[in-house]
This record gives sequence, C-alpha cells and structure tokens, in this order.
Amino acid sequence: MRIILLGAPGSGKGTQAVVISQRLKIPHISTGDIFRSNIKNGTELGKKAKEYMDKGLLVPDELTIDIVKDRLQQEDCKNGFILDGFPRTIPQAEYLDNALKEMGIKLDIALNIHVPDEEIIKRMSGRRVCPKCGMTYHTENNPPKKGNLCDGCGSEVVQRDDDKEETVIKRLKTYHDQTEPLIDYYTKQGIVVKVDGTAGIEATTQDVFNALGVK
Ligand code: AP5
Ligand code: MG
Ligand code: ZN
Repeated sequence: MRIILLGAPGSGKGTQAVVISQRLKIPHISTGDIFRSNIKNGTELGKKAKEYMDKGLLVPDELTIDIVKDRLQQEDCKNGFILDGFPRTIPQAEYLDNALKEMGIKLDIALNIHVPDEEIIKRMSGRRVCPKCGMTYHTENNPPKKGNLCDGCGSEVVQRDDDKEETVIKRLKTYHDQTEPLIDYYTKQGIVVKVDGTAGIEATTQDVFNALGVK
C-alpha cells in the first residue's frame, strides 16, 4: 500500500506511521526525521534545514524534493511506503505525482488525521522523542515504561527544539497556509480519508486501520 499522511504538526502522524509501518511491513519515510538526523550529523543539508525548522517555517522545496526522490527509488519501497510529512506544499504534491507516474505507480490513500489547534498546542509541550531510534512519547498520554528511557533502545528521550509553544504556533500557521490546501488537492483525486486524531492513540490507530481496510 502507498500511503501519505496529512495532518497538522502534532496530530499524531509519526505515532501512527510507526504502527502502520510495522503492521504492513512497509517503510516509514519522514522528511522531518531525515532533516533531524542531518542536523544531528552536522551535514550541510542539516545546517540549512535547521534555520527554517527553528523558525517554524518549511524547508524550501528544492532541498526537500530530491531527498524523497532518492528514498522512493530504494528497494524497500517496492511493495509500498508511508510518507509522513511529505508532501507539504502544492509543488511538492505535483512533484510527487509526476515521480510516481514515471515509476508507474499511484498513491492508494491520503490519511488526514484531524486535531483542532487548541488541542495541538496543549499536546506538544508533553511530547518527548528518542533521538536514537525516533520513537515518540508523551509525558501523560504515552510515557516510556522506565522513567525517561526509550522502550525500544534505552536512550534518554528528549524534547524537540521546535516544540516550544511560540514555535508550535508558527508551525500551525505554516500548516494552515501551505499544507492544508493539500486536503482539497487529494480530495479531487478521491483518495482522502479523514480520521479523528483526538480519540487517544489506540482508538486513532483502530480508525486508521479501518480506513486502510486492514483487520
Ligand atoms: P515534522 O517532523 O514532520 O513535524 P510536524 O509535521 O510539525 O509534525 P510533528 O512531527 O510535530 O507531529 P506528528 O504529527 O508526527 O505528531 P506525533 O506523532 O509526534 O517536520 C518538522 C519540520 O521539518 C517542519 O516544521 C519543517 O520545517 C521541516 N519539514 C519536514 N518535512 C518537510 C517538507 N516536506 N517540506 C518542507 N519542510 C519540511 O504526536 C505528537 C504528540 O502527541 C506526541 O507526544 C504523541 O505521543 C501525542 N499523541 C499522538 N497521537 C495522540 C492521540 N491520538 N491522543 C493523544 N496524544 C497523542
Ligand atoms: Mg512527526
Ligand atoms: Zn529509542
């Protein structure tokens, strides 16, 4: 299955993508995670991306598109993939459509995980992430089993640099201006399914699997 995840920052895209990826055995491709790993490794791309990310802005399309192109051509994407955080602009969506067309494939579904802005602002202050393996936690909704150590790899979980309240508010504005129009774009292709992202992590997962037709 070829899936893209729409939804505001903090709507739960990463949380659900990990579960979908495990269940369907397809790779989880997050442009945000790719940028963060470049920042951690001090690459040129990471340095450029960080300037935008810290301000709650999108990284320019020309830095983003090539990464995805390379990734989709790798062997493990043969049976499907789940794109988390890409596309985020109309030009990225048009680019993706063309790239898939060249590869002779199509998207199956665009999941729109919906959460109101007020709820997102409340949620983000509690998010913690594992810097090593990328697992996502929440101090109240989904804490690690042992203190602040990742369940998967034992590393200490941390707060993301862009999860400060003022940056979250900017990211939401960026989302409404530049990314939300994609809901219309993919509605015209007939592939959008809306999922309630406020229902708690497991209930949302159930809705996601219903939407995907996975039992
Ligand atoms: P990215 O990393 O993609 O961030 P984002 O879209 O802002 O989304 P988040 O990762 O913040 O949230 P999420 O939806 O994954 O939620 P999560 O599962 O963590 O991008 C970061 C930056 O990189 C962008 O701002 C931009 O600068 C740049 N970038 C990335 N891609 C780009 C692109 N294509 N073009 C240009 N720039 C790009 O969940 C959030 C919290 O809520 C967690 O603590 C979780 O435990 C909790 N939670 C999840 N679900 C539930 C639930 N159902 N109930 C209660 N709590 C829940
Ligand atoms: Mg994420
Ligand atoms: Zn970990």
